[in-house]
Amino acid sequence: MTDTATTSTPRANDGGSPVARPERVTHAHVRDIALPAGAGTLALVTLDNDLDQTKPTSFGPTGLAELRTALLALQRRAADGEIVAVALTGKPGYLAAGADLTAAALVTAESDARAFGELGHAAFRLLGEMSVPTFAYINGVALGGGFEIALHCTYRTVSGDVTALALPETFLGLVPGWGGCYLLPQLVGVRRALEVILTRPAANNRMTDAAGALELGCADALFHPADFLEQSIVWTAEVLAGRVRVARSELEGAHEWDAIVTGARAHLDRRLHGSRPAPYRALDLVAAARTSDRDTAFAAEEDALTELLMSDGLRASLYAFDLSTRRARKPAGAPADDLAQDVLTVGIVGAGLMAGQLAVLISRRLRVPVVLREIDEERVAAGLEGVRALVGDLVTRGRVTPDEANRILSSISVSTDLTSLADADLVIEAVTEDLELKQRVFAELEDVVTADAILATNTSALSVTEMSKHLRHPERVVGLHFFNPVAQMPLVEVVRTSVSSDEAVATAFAIAKKLRKTAVGVVDRPGFVVNRLLLRMLAEVAAAVEGGTPVQVADIALRPLGLPMGPFALLALVKLPVALYVLEALHAELGARFPLSPGLDRLQREGRRVTSEPDGHGSEQSVDPAIQEVFGEADGPTALDGAGVLDAVLAGLTEEIGLMLEEGVVGSADQIDLCMILGAGWPLHLGGISPYLDRTGYSARVLGRRLLREGVASLPAR
Ligand SMILES: NC(=O)c1ccc[n+]([C@@H]2O[C@H](COP(=O)([O-])OP(=O)(O)OC[C@H]3O[C@@H](n4cnc5c(N)ncnc54)[C@H](O)[C@@H]3O)[C@@H](O)[C@H]2O)c1
Repeated sequence: MTDTATTSTPRANDGGSPVARPERVTHAHVRDIALPAGAGTLALVTLDNDLDQTKPTSFGPTGLAELRTALLALQRRAADGEIVAVALTGKPGYLAAGADLTAAALVTAESDARAFGELGHAAFRLLGEMSVPTFAYINGVALGGGFEIALHCTYRTVSGDVTALALPETFLGLVPGWGGCYLLPQLVGVRRALEVILTRPAANNRMTDAAGALELGCADALFHPADFLEQSIVWTAEVLAGRVRVARSELEGAHEWDAIVTGARAHLDRRLHGSRPAPYRALDLVAAARTSDRDTAFAAEEDALTELLMSDGLRASLYAFDLSTRRARKPAGAPADDLAQDVLTVGIVGAGLMAGQLAVLISRRLRVPVVLREIDEERVAAGLEGVRALVGDLVTRGRVTPDEANRILSSISVSTDLTSLADADLVIEAVTEDLELKQRVFAELEDVVTADAILATNTSALSVTEMSKHLRHPERVVGLHFFNPVAQMPLVEVVRTSVSSDEAVATAFAIAKKLRKTAVGVVDRPGFVVNRLLLRMLAEVAAAVEGGTPVQVADIALRPLGLPMGPFALLALVKLPVALYVLEALHAELGARFPLSPGLDRLQREGRRVTSEPDGHGSEQSVDPAIQEVFGEADGPTALDGAGVLDAVLAGLTEEIGLMLEEGVVGSADQIDLCMILGAGWPLHLGGISPYLDRTGYSARVLGRRLLREGVASLPAR
């Protein structure tokens, strides 16, 4: 690795918990309902925090205690024959959104962590231990504990408009520990339970909708939202009278159950390499659910919850989760919203990989005409074909209706005519990554667009300032850096030059918001945030390999971090030519910290694959050992082992982040954390890259090295 110049700056970021706020108590309001045809009295419990719609119900200690008291009273009434059933529902829009994560983040004593697990079980289990049947009417969002409480009931109905039903705990570094790991596999079998508990959270926290819940067996009946409660009550009476019988699918036998668990464990190993404990703990609990009794299973859930709640990983996850959800909704450094200009037509220059995806997303979310411009008829046809394929895929996956697909297709046009962009309020250039070409494109655009049109570039790493400096109105130019694949990647870097106007920047933020992306404002420095750090990481790995580290050692060296993929798989994903031109741009601008790699260059020239074919078993792609020859004989005197490569990468990232903060690329370290979580898949359990580097001692170490080298006087004033 090259270790040249410069610096690291310590950062004021404790990586701590979300800001404390008092518990929003979820109350359990009980009312009696006379069932049809004199079938007796149903006690309906409604979970409600008595706050407005924007404040979801969640479970904290006070609310759980109140719920338990209410359910104990109902247990007595059931035993006395006063009620024939108990049903549970929520305030409009929510059954419940799960445990109060603010309360969870504040747990510091082991006894409090255990009490948190016990409280949930103590309240929820009463629903499974009444002398009368219990019903959950899932009328809205049911997440985590909000879904688990429904699992304790004997039966479940779901409203047709429910879209967010999930057990996301393993995504956050917890397990579904209020009954979920025991009751779900008991209800739907191990395969489906693992789909909900492990697979969907790992797939970017995918939720289940009402129809999906019915199909999975998580709900017994689905009713129209318009009269959901009434229909659920009628259905309850029918079930109680024996006129409706609920069929449940048979669970897997012992042999199949164990085989599925073994397969799931192997899959976890391939994906996570043991880098975080929660999914493994959840798998153990699910595995045991076939033979365990309720008390033993709930006690095991409490053990797992206690351990995970006390872990640094959970605190880190909660910081990262809070940052990338609640705090991300208020972008730092964005000008006032009302400065944003209306955008009624969008132009895009280019119709390649990024342009086509942008066109479809913009048409879907903004519902405005999108006009693309290409250089010749062949590329116009290819661009249109690409757009059709993207929309066709959306239809196949049920994401848009055929009518909506037709609307999207008819709103997008592609031509070679530059003047077709004349009416656009915003033009995004997404042409080949070449500074002179982009300068020319902007110069041509300036002659055809209206006086107040905004020009944006999707460049990966080129200088937006250079791109716009010869224009008559460089103040209208901003960067709107989307990531590939555009539909899935949640981040957009909004790049501001020293002359970008507030109106242009505000419009860029407004567009990102309408596209449902999280925007982070960055200043115009090479590679902005994500590409600069990813390339620094790849440059360190490439330098290690150039120095004689075997490619297979370098490929697995970062596994302890639990990143979404290894460095060579990342190179294959972004495509070698793209990675190389970004590296070249960063080398040109930032110097020897981004050394060029003759080996990677040769791989590109020879058009070789860097990874071997995937094995078709969900295993991550790994480096093709054959490319070793390009880098020469491995294991020379400067070769590193895996720990050495990881160390070089982390030290490099620390140095780079310090420099980025000194240069003011973003205003604070948490903005870098946010970019890396959303733009590079930095794992939640590591809790943001900068607190991680602080916690693991890298920030202090890199700063110490700098002090030795340059002396205290060189440090920036703080
Ligand atoms: N590919 C990625 O993963 C990715 C991710 C983020 C950003 N980007 C950036 O997006 C931009 C486009 O990248 P891409 O991957 O879509 O490239 P691409 O090669 O797929 O598409 C570029 C298109 O621009 C067209 N073009 C060239 N000159 C033109 C001109 N004067 N007028 C109109 N069209 C012209 C080309 O014909 C080509 O079809 C680049 O700046 C790239 O750095 C790419």
